[in-house]
Amino acid sequence: MANSKYEYVRLFEQDQTLLPNTWIVVRVDGRGFHKLSNHYEFAKPNDRRALDLMNAAASHVVRSIADVCFAYGVSDEYSFVFERNTQMFERRRDKLVSTVVSTFTAAYVLLWPQHFPSTPPSPPTSVNADAGPAPASHLDASHLPTFDGRAVVYPTTANLRDYLSWRQVDCHINNLYNTTFWTLVLRGGLSQTGAEEHLKGTVSSDKNEMLFSRFGINYNNEPDMYRKGSCVFREYETTAHDDDDKERSNAAAAAPLMSQPARDDNEETRSSDVPEPPLSKTQQEKQRKAKAKAQVVVRHLDIIKDDFWNRRPWILLSGGRPPPNKSVSVIQS
Ligand code: GTP
Ligand code: MG
Repeated sequence: MANSKYEYVRLFEQDQTLLPNTWIVVRVDGRGFHKLSNHYEFAKPNDRRALDLMNAAASHVVRSIADVCFAYGVSDEYSFVFERNTQMFERRRDKLVSTVVSTFTAAYVLLWPQHFPSTPPSPPTSVNADAGPAPASHLDASHLPTFDGRAVVYPTTANLRDYLSWRQVDCHINNLYNTTFWTLVLRGGLSQTGAEEHLKGTVSSDKNEMLFSRFGINYNNEPDMYRKGSCVFREYETTAHDDDDKERSNAAAAAPLMSQPARDDNEETRSSDVPEPPLSKTQQEKQRKAKAKAQVVVRHLDIIKDDFWNRRPWILLSGGRPPPNKSVSVIQS
């Protein structure tokens, strides 16, 4: 077919392709959620409904995009890790980011009514700005949840682990601060400015002590979801004690499934500096089926230590690919 004289405009389209054999992380972040959380009267500092909704939307992304091997979320943000050798959209940045952001946003909006049920029973579900002030639990067009997104590539598994650790440390620091701040305001009767002043120059141990001695709150007993954030991934086999995250101080109890120092850069370079050969069509189909069957779970675990990763080697070490026999040996402790 003859090209039209307009066809040349395609030449202006510039695709950015992300480096091969690197970890791609797409992070979505709620736009203006400070305002939005006030508008919909989220509980402070943590609203379980809002966090469950973030987790449900993230689980939908992991289920819908087979090449996403892990996701970590806190507050209004979620990071989605693509398996190292993903060929999705030929690794085009725009396509990857926009697909993750829109899939996440669509699920967030769709699932909103399940997490913020209305009382009394729902008015029409359509989003309608002219319908007058909506009950707080209903989305209204002037305060629709939207998310921005960005992609970052990490060349080594150690870099990726450090990225995820950075997000989890941030979760801990912010949550300890917010928990203390809002306890001082809501239970201690301080103004917000007063609480801010009160917390100036304090370190973690001061905040822990303040919570305990003045309000009888043991920070370590706060829900894991608030303190550690949320991880979403495919679980092929779990053990009863796997997921309750009684952080084992005894390293021997966490006998690694693969004897590898996960954060050894040299090892990393040796084992994965050459991209894995592409899979045959049959292999791809087999993997797709195994992934589709796998259970996508939400867990609130420590991802800074090696234990989590050692127990689930399929997430990072095998590039997100399911273990060949769909299960891994159960760790005995
Ligand atoms: P931009 O991302 O730059 O658009 O700003 P933002 O307003 O979304 O703020 P940011 O992403 O830095 O931080 C997220 C904000 O969302 C927090 O500061 C809170 O105000 C709000 N937020 C997130 N989760 C909760 C929650 O569970 N409860 C409450 N009350 N607020 C929350
Ligand atoms: Mg935000």
